[in-house]
Formats: sequence, C-alpha cells, structure tokens
Amino acid sequence: MADSGGPLVVLENVNKYFGELHVLKDIDLSIDRGEVVVVIGPSGGGKSTLCRTINRLETIDSGKITLDGEPLPQEGRALARLRSEVGMVFQSFNLFAHKTILQNVTLGPIKVRKVPKAQAEEEAMALLERVGIASQAGKFPAQLSGGQQQRAAIARALAMKPKIMLFDEPTSALDPEMVAEVLEVMTDLAREGMTMIVVTHEMGFARSAARRVVFMADGQIVEQSTPEEFFTEARTDRARDFLSKILRH
Ligand SMILES: Nc1ncnc2c1ncn2[C@@H]1O[C@H](COP(=O)(O)OP(=O)(O)OP(=O)(O)O)[C@@H](O)[C@H]1O
Ligand SMILES: [Mg+2]
Repeated sequence: MADSGGPLVVLENVNKYFGELHVLKDIDLSIDRGEVVVVIGPSGGGKSTLCRTINRLETIDSGKITLDGEPLPQEGRALARLRSEVGMVFQSFNLFAHKTILQNVTLGPIKVRKVPKAQAEEEAMALLERVGIASQAGKFPAQLSGGQQQRAAIARALAMKPKIMLFDEPTSALDPEMVAEVLEVMTDLAREGMTMIVVTHEMGFARSAARRVVFMADGQIVEQSTPEEFFTEARTDRARDFLSKILRH
C-alpha cells in the first residue's frame, strides 16, 4: 500500500450505533505516523468500539475512516490485509490455547503473509527475544504468567509487521507486578517509532510514552491535550470528574 505521506489513520465524522444506542458521535481523529495516542475515559464511553472500528471488527454507520490514505476495505482479501496491518492487543490474552507460543507468533505470517516456516520462526524468535520471553517459545499459553502471555500477544501482533498497533486495556487484567513488564515492552515500541493507539488508565505510561491524550465520554471526544496538560489541568468538568475518580484509587 502506498505511503500517502499524510496522517496514518484518519477518522472523519464517524458515527456508530448499536441499535438505538449512539456509541460513537461525530468522531474526528487523526493519528500521525509514529504518534502514540492514549485514549482514556469512563466505562461505556466508546473506547473499545473506537479501536474496533479501526481494524473493522465493527462497521460504522456514517463518516469515513482511512488508513494510509485509503478507505478501510469492506470485505474479502483486502479486509484480511487490513487486519494484518492493524495489530491489536486486547485485555484478555487471546492466544490460541493449543498452540505453543512460537506457533502462536508464526501462524499469521505463515498463513496470511505466506512467509516460509523457517523464516517465520526466525523472525518470531527475534520478536520473542525483544519482548523478553524467548525462553518460553516452546510452552503453551496456560504455562505462562499473564504478563508473559500478554507479551506473547504483542509479539504475535508485531509478527504481521503492522503499520499501527491498537492496545485495548492491555494491562487491566494483570496482577500489579506484571503490569510494569508489559508497559515496558509498549514503551520500547513507542520509542522505536511504532504508531500506537492505547486505551489505558496507566498515567505513568501516558506521561512517558504518549504525545497526546484523548478523553472520551458518552461516545464523544471531549478533550485532547498533552498528557501533562490533561493530568494536571484538564479543561472540562467531565474530565476533571473522571480524573478525581481514578486518582482516588
Ligand atoms: N456488541 C455490542 N452490542 C451492543 N452494545 C454494545 C456492544 N459493544 C459495546 N456496546 C455498548 O456500547 C457502548 C460503548 O462500549 P465500549 O465497549 O466501546 O466502551 P468502553 O469505553 O470501551 O468501556 P470500558 O471502559 O468499560 O471498556 C457501551 O454502552 C456498551 O454497552
Ligand atoms: Mg473497553
């Protein structure tokens, strides 16, 4: 796909309904290449739905989403290609339980990208090394800690050489001592220039890795600013109210 030179992802006037429920309201959002954006906001505000529309796990009802200057494909081969270009890591470690960690990471490249097995394995081992779990390559997901599984999920997404990585609360199901190791991998990725949209309430990560915080509530982008501005002087009552709640914990 051609490098359009402009922003990598653009959402224009995007609306999405679940039945009567208006979950994304006139969303305008543009993500630059190499930019890291943290999306934060109250439960039910539409953060996951926003992520899911970008790799087209959800359709939209109106508006436009482009990746690299091209509208998201509707179906077929082009949609499969899009999915491989948009890496996604969810809250729950959705690894294939009956495949080893190495097989989990090589599956996409072999099946979708038609990479020869030996090359896929070599690249997978390098990725597992990068996320610090090369020694776990032959194990099954259930034999790994939550933090290790989540790092495997990141390696699996990276194996497809995505243009952008979407993270939807990647650390919220982890025990506290494992949160740091996953955030560290994400921080490294950010530093290496990966374009990332990260739904998280981890303020430390937002402050150290994000260029921009997008605050979403009730299906709308309520405000956007730098992490520093957002956490110290949020402009809207809605955001200040939300921050007072998460800061109390
Ligand atoms: N498949 C679905 N069908 C119907 N309603 C849905 C569906 N998925 C999400 N919703 C509703 O859409 C709204 C936005 O949900 P979404 O999961 O995007 O919020 P969120 O900001 O990610 O919340 P959380 O912080 O709890 O993860 C919520 O009211 C939710 O109940
Ligand atoms: Mg969510």
